[in-house]
Amino acid sequence: MHPCTVPFYINSRYLPMNLDHSALVDLLRKAYSAEKAAAFAYQGHAGAVKDKEEKIAIRQIEMDEWEHRKEVLHIMRQYSIPVSKLYEIRFHVIGKIISFSCYLIGWFMPFYFAGRLESGNVCEYFRMMQYFHELGILEHNQVLYEMGMKEKEHEIYFLGKIKNKRMLPFFEKLFAWGAKESFNDIDLDKKYPVEASALYCKKRSEG
Ligand SMILES: [Fe+2]
Ligand SMILES: [Fe+2]
Repeated sequence: MHPCTVPFYINSRYLPMNLDHSALVDLLRKAYSAEKAAAFAYQGHAGAVKDKEEKIAIRQIEMDEWEHRKEVLHIMRQYSIPVSKLYEIRFHVIGKIISFSCYLIGWFMPFYFAGRLESGNVCEYFRMMQYFHELGILEHNQVLYEMGMKEKEHEIYFLGKIKNKRMLPFFEKLFAWGAKESFNDIDLDKKYPVEASALYCKKRSEG
């Protein structure tokens, strides 16, 4: 038996349940693999920037993404949800391509697209929380809240780097994210408490 399957096996003996929510199961599996793509992408991004502080900040963000992957796996194991091989391969390739491309596309674009991606990731975790609530499960609120907020911090970091750049208005028009537009409704200065945070991202999940 592969060592990685041991905890899954042990878990499934004690908790042979599955989540009866196909959208949630798919979202968990996708998030698990997409976190790897993000981490790979930041490896390339950190390698491509010259500024030391930027390198350190992006490396820290990479570490955050590996941590998220671990947390998502922890939840998946609790419900005996297997990792998707297809997503693992797909996001591996995507992550490596983005990672490599960071060396080719200049300074602005990796920051812009990282921020845009993070902006979308924020709601993934609040949507997961909403789905869990549909099943009456509240125990993951804290960890999902923290991951969602961390993605928001990542978005704000990247936006902060590019918000005064001349190219931003053009990119914002083209790709619908930037200083005025975001894919989530979180304001880090006026955060909802954990108990109310399932109210975030409602529009997106309904739309
Ligand atoms: Fe993440
Ligand atoms: Fe992130």
